[in-house]
This record gives sequence, structure tokens and C-alpha cells, in this order.
Amino acid sequence: MIAGPARFQHLLGIEPLSREDILLLLENSQRFVEVSQRDLKKVPALRGKTIINLFLEPSTRTRASFEIAGKRLSADTINITASGSSVTKGETLLDTARTLQAMNPDILVVRHRSSGAAQFLSERLTKTAVVNAGDGMHEHPTQALLDSLTLCQHFGVSASEFNGKNICIVGDVRHSRVARSNIWAHHLLGNRITLVGPSTLVPREFSDQGAFPGEIRIAHSLREGLESADVVMVLRMQLERQSDNFIPSLEEYTRQYCITEEALRVASPDCVILHPGPANRGIEISSAVYEGSRSLVEKQVNNGVAVRMATLFLLGTRSRKESL
Ligand code: CP
Repeated sequence: MIAGPARFQHLLGIEPLSREDILLLLENSQRFVEVSQRDLKKVPALRGKTIINLFLEPSTRTRASFEIAGKRLSADTINITASGSSVTKGETLLDTARTLQAMNPDILVVRHRSSGAAQFLSERLTKTAVVNAGDGMHEHPTQALLDSLTLCQHFGVSASEFNGKNICIVGDVRHSRVARSNIWAHHLLGNRITLVGPSTLVPREFSDQGAFPGEIRIAHSLREGLESADVVMVLRMQLERQSDNFIPSLEEYTRQYCITEEALRVASPDCVILHPGPANRGIEISSAVYEGSRSLVEKQVNNGVAVRMATLFLLGTRSRKESL
């Protein structure tokens, strides 16, 4: 596999990327899908490189898939979590990152509860590429990439042909880094975006004063929002980020916005469902839909490894041409 040279030095979000950058990441991801299907799931592409996964917020999918991705590329990978590190003794994020940089890693993958944490580190670390694995309410770029890869595969199109679809994002958009990264990605790819949820969780700034005035449709009624949807992205209700009363009660939210088979009757008959996980079954999505024939959730998780392999590969080989 030949990677086109990545023009980005870090992966901090989808917003700073160009359409060409996204296509490069998605095309390489698709090629890495094949590596994970082999009996021997390993290539020597990043042999001799060191990757540190610094996860200071909980994660199952992202952390496991970055570790697997690094190992399948033959890099040396280590994982650090908040509870097992000197963060618990009060060490700051920057001191932690500088300490790790002193051990000469090539890539630092960071998850942090603060929006902007990955950018903050990228501006201060001089020798290490930084990958954002989710920062507060800001961005989760590899999630949007794996969602797009999953949809390209489902619709049987290449990344450059993936456009014109009605993508409906439902739920707690306000607190969602997954939603923000997907909005940027589908804007660049050329899909139509509808955001659905209560006005407290889908502020009008996403439509009127945001980066794409008039381009994003907002609906506060689920029935109106789901009409003709080709894809429904169900967001996790972020119970840990609801410090203010954004909804009257979970029961009320579920009554109005839970994605059920009945609610999906107005969507396109072939409509498919994405959920980044972890799901609150029975709150934002019914178990029947989550596990049903429209659900691409397992495929999303599966593609997470390929997307993270492509990300690490492109950043880890920026300075040299590599073939697998
Ligand atoms: N989608 C996602 O980021 O899941 P994790 O929190 O389990 O990594």
C-alpha cells in the first residue's frame, strides 16, 4: 500500500481537514480493512515506531481499537489511563505529555474531558504527532471517519462518490463531539444534514450562525426530522454532561425522541442506523432497532480498527514512503 503524503501533522479534528485529506484517510482505511481480515493480521508498516495511548476519560471502543491498530502495524504501543497514572497525584496534562514525549514516542493519542486538549498539546509538543481520540464536546475525528467508511461500504460507493444522502443526527447534539465531527465530515463529503432534538440540545447556532448558515436543517419533531432519512445517527444521551436541566426528564426525552421501529416508518425504507456507543438502550434507541437488521453498529466497531490503522499509518510515515 502506498500512502499519499498526509498534509496534516496531527489529527485534531475534521474541521481543519480538507476534502482531499478526508478522502485520503477513508481510502487508506478501506485498504486496511483487508489486513484485519487476514489470518495473520499484521504488517510491518510502523515497525520501530512508538505510540502512546493516553486516555484520561473512559473508553472501550476507541482505546481498544487504537491499541489493536498500532499492534497490527507492528508499532510498540502502550496505554495510560488516568487511574493508573500520576494524574491522580495532581500532575497536569502538559507535564504528563512532556514526560511521555521525553521517551521519544512518535504518536500520542489523547482522550480528555476538556474541549481543545489535543490542540493544546499539539501546540506545545515539538517532536510528537498528536491524535485526538475525543476531547470534551469538541471533536471525535476518527469516529466520524469510521462512520463515513461504514456508510461508504453500505452504499457500495467510494469515498469520493459518497454524497447526496440525507443524514439525520438525533439527540444530544449540544454535548456531542461525535455530532460535530460528523457535521464537518458530511459537509465536506456533500451529504445533507438534519439535526433533531429538543431546542435545548440542538441550539439554532448549528444552523443560523454556524459555519454553514442555511445548510443544516434543524427539526424539533422526530417525525419531521426523520422524513426521507437515508441514515439515522443516534447520539448517546450524555448523562455525565447534563449538569443543567436540558430536558424535563429522561422519560419525557424518550417519549419524544427514542428511535424505535415505529418512529422509523417515515424514514426511507432502506434507512440504516448508526450509534457511536455506548448505547443507553430504551432511552435514545430501542433494543429492537439497536440489534435490528438496519443497525450497522457492529460494522462501525469493526471499521474503527481500520480507520485508526490508516490514521496512525499516515501520521507515522509522513516523512517516508511506505509500502505494506
Ligand atoms: N464511540 C466511542 O468513542 O466509544 P468509547 O467511549 O467506548 O471509546
